[in-house]
Amino acid sequence: MRCRRSSGGGPSLLMLLLPYYLIILLSHHAVVQCFLLDGSGSSHARFPKWNAAANASLELEFKTEQGNGLLLYTDDGGTYDFFELKLVEGQLRLRYNLGGGAQILSVGSQLGDSRWHKIIVARNHENTSLTVDGATASSSSRGSDVEFGKLAGNSDVYVGGMPSWYSSKLTLLALPSVIFEPRFVGLIRNLVYADGDSTTPRRQQLGRAAEIKVRVNFVWRG
Ligand SMILES: *[C@@H]1O[C@H](CO)[C@@H](O)[C@H](O)[C@H]1NC(C)=O
Ligand SMILES: *[C@@H]1O[C@H](CO)[C@@H](O)[C@H](O)[C@H]1NC(C)=O
Repeated sequence: MRCRRSSGGGPSLLMLLLPYYLIILLSHHAVVQCFLLDGSGSSHARFPKWNAAANASLELEFKTEQGNGLLLYTDDGGTYDFFELKLVEGQLRLRYNLGGGAQILSVGSQLGDSRWHKIIVARNHENTSLTVDGATASSSSRGSDVEFGKLAGNSDVYVGGMPSWYSSKLTLLALPSVIFEPRFVGLIRNLVYADGDSTTPRRQQLGRAAEIKVRVNFVWRG
């Protein structure tokens, strides 16, 4: 399944938005492969925890007309560790902390160009790399702790923004400033990572109504 495309040139996000304005009401069997975040109100999507084991990866694809916006955030429930992935003036930026201090990786430029871009965040023990469309930046975490929190206490994975209830629970955030990041406006697809107790990456799917505040532009009923 692919997101809808208009023929010739890139579709305007507005064109995609109008006919598919569905506040989601999915059955357990509905599988969403691609969704639109409109950036309004508390728009975001929530996915299961990332089991970011010592050697793990996370992938997603996005398409937007805007150069700024929070793509993804997850943390250890408010201690130190977090991953924050965002667009800043057209560049992709990963800020993360595994306990040895915050690190920043930046890659790409002019990514708000209404084309699909593929991101890979890869962890290999102390090393973390950020790749967009094949261009990679990497860095090493200082200190001996290279685990990402403890799975049981870690937050879910939020895409496109943070739920508004976090505003009154800032102590639950390892990076409280994430709440002030501009929400992502655009399309997301192919989110892949290991979740739960699994260390094998799998495609994440939106499944239950409570999980998201997004408008879905393609629904596959499987
Ligand atoms: C660990 O990461 C490397 C890339 O750095 C990859 O080639 C390898 O397959 C990974 N191993 C496991 C067990 O995931
Ligand atoms: C991390 O990166 C450094 C420098 O590139 C390399 O020497 C080291 O082997 C890497 N560690 C792992 C676990 O891949």
